[in-house]
Amino acid sequence: MEIKKAIEERRTIRKFKHDEPVPDESLLELMEAARLAPSGGNLQPWRFIIVRDQETKRKIAEVSGDQPFIIEAPVLIVCCGDLRALRDRPKAMRELVNAGALERVPQSILDEIIASTEQMYGTDLHTRGAISNCYIAIAFMVLQAMELGLGTAWIGYFDQDKLKALLEIPPDDVMVASLLAVGYQNEHPRQRPRKKLEEIMFMERWGGK
Ligand SMILES: Cc1cc2nc3c(=O)[nH]c(=O)nc-3n(C[C@H](O)[C@H](O)[C@H](O)COP(=O)(O)O)c2cc1C
Repeated sequence: MEIKKAIEERRTIRKFKHDEPVPDESLLELMEAARLAPSGGNLQPWRFIIVRDQETKRKIAEVSGDQPFIIEAPVLIVCCGDLRALRDRPKAMRELVNAGALERVPQSILDEIIASTEQMYGTDLHTRGAISNCYIAIAFMVLQAMELGLGTAWIGYFDQDKLKALLEIPPDDVMVASLLAVGYQNEHPRQRPRKKLEEIMFMERWGGK
């Protein structure tokens, strides 16, 4: 499937064929799409919990506003940002240098990066960075799902603490970025409203035409 077609035809799917399981190979293809996504500093902070168990899905729905499609979807992917990935920054940087992706980085710069890493740990910027990297991986999965004939729904509404407790996610060092419901779709919604191009695109300066 062409990317343009996938982008144009993708919809949030809220009705799934709950008795049609998602094949393991398709799930692995989604994971591969996520794995290959870009991330800041190549930290790859995303971690994914695959949930198929009906009872677990029911409990997740309970802490996610009782959205019915959470139970109906054959698979839920719980997408988490591991804040500890930041600690790998010097190593990731060295890997990028060795892979030829960056010019040789002098040791003094690496030292600076290590120092700033410690200062950054636990800040708002750090948390937002981990979560936004997860969103990129999710977007890749959503488009890959289109090619596999699978429907998806992002779920951003959930109780962070209750969900973490439910799935034994480390309370302090990991944030749940989003849930992604995946399955064969049982509805074919029309395109949802979008803003006009001129409302979102400016030339040269804010508001520029
Ligand atoms: C970050 C994010 C969080 C979302 N959370 C929810 C959610 O909790 N429940 C839901 O029904 N849809 C959720 N959606 C889906 C949006 O409502 C949907 O993308 C939007 O209405 C546009 O529709 P479309 O995806 O079909 O184009 C979420 C989408 C995104 C990107």
